[in-house]
Amino acid sequence: MEWKPFEEKIWLSSPTMHGEELKYVTEAYETNWMSTVGANINEIERITCEKVGRKYAVALSSGTAALHLAVKLAGVKPGDKVFCSDMTFDATVNPVVYEGGVPVFIDTERDTWNMDPVALEKAFELYPDVKVVVLAHLYGTPGKVDELRAVCDKHGAVMVEDAAESLGAAYKGAQTGTFGKYSCISFNGNKIITGSSGGMLLTDDLHAANKARKWSTQARENAPWYQHEELGYNYRMSNVIAGVVRGQYPHLEEHIAQKKAIYMRYQEGLQDLPVTMNPYDAEHSEPNFWLSCLLINEEAMCRQVRSETEALYVSEPGKSCPTEILETLARYHAEGRPVWKPMHMQPMYHMNPFVGTQGYMRARTNACIAGGAEDVGADIFSRGLCLPSDNKMTPEQQDRIIEIIKGCFA
Ligand SMILES: Cc1ncc(COP(=O)(O)O)c(C=O)c1O
Repeated sequence: MEWKPFEEKIWLSSPTMHGEELKYVTEAYETNWMSTVGANINEIERITCEKVGRKYAVALSSGTAALHLAVKLAGVKPGDKVFCSDMTFDATVNPVVYEGGVPVFIDTERDTWNMDPVALEKAFELYPDVKVVVLAHLYGTPGKVDELRAVCDKHGAVMVEDAAESLGAAYKGAQTGTFGKYSCISFNGNKIITGSSGGMLLTDDLHAANKARKWSTQARENAPWYQHEELGYNYRMSNVIAGVVRGQYPHLEEHIAQKKAIYMRYQEGLQDLPVTMNPYDAEHSEPNFWLSCLLINEEAMCRQVRSETEALYVSEPGKSCPTEILETLARYHAEGRPVWKPMHMQPMYHMNPFVGTQGYMRARTNACIAGGAEDVGADIFSRGLCLPSDNKMTPEQQDRIIEIIKGCFA
């Protein structure tokens, strides 16, 4: 069946506003708290602590800023190696480099597409002195937190948790954002709730929270003039942005329910195709289902080659590939995206160590280096894609997207 393109674009994940945002933004305007101080900031820090279950929250200009301060608090110094999630957005990793640290990438497990605890243990065999691990929960799906934490504890390492994509997701009854000594969330425009931008640092350590707050406001000392004893940053959240976040918070659960319904509808609608969805541990975790993703079975992949910036494929009956599906969706005015390209495959991180379950792996190949281990991240990148997951997409629109995807395998 031939479909017409969508009249209005179906987005991967766009902001969903409700009206209350304007009320709090207007309040900021009318009371003239148009700066990095004000009631909205105080209120969203309070709400975040309450919702996530942490003692202290520091509202910042972005999730990246939060990760930067978390990496500083964790004590990363120039030359220090830091174990990092590999299949994630580069904002998880870049803050390590801001501090002069050297990311060592840890391969991905197949059960949740997050950092593999077995590979993490292997990495400590190779680098026993490492003291910081930066762990992300990809696409709103909690990683294997208990196993990862056990490895960190065994080696005396601090866990920095990147929960930018996973606000509202839970693992064994506790929310993501509670597992790191320092944890971070993001209110970027594409996240489950948004401030248009913004982020937060979460911790149970009052001293650390105070440090972060001070660093984020240019590290001013308590003095009658601008007095500085250490390096500061302009990282504090604006009270206007905080107004948007404040208006969004009452809708967090509703957004999660919508995203979950989208995931379930894809799962059901695509069940006859040779594909699986991004997996999660249904017994122990409840993702926020931020993005729904697809992984094409190996035997159902048509030929696809990718350079650093381009992709080609050869269409084949009964088979498809991410490039074909994404290009087809784009023709119909729907936005998907390749699965985040793993950090070890990124040109800027090609020279950084990459560790899998059997030891060192080499970037850019899907072949094993040590003992027959495969590069799980590269494999998921080659066969996976993120589907349109916008919570304003109607069931009818989603059904059309499902039919369009089916058409790629015809
Ligand atoms: C996993 C992950 N970490 C960090 C960030 C950075 O957050 P922000 O865009 O708020 O700086 C993002 C998203 O943008 C992300 O997806």
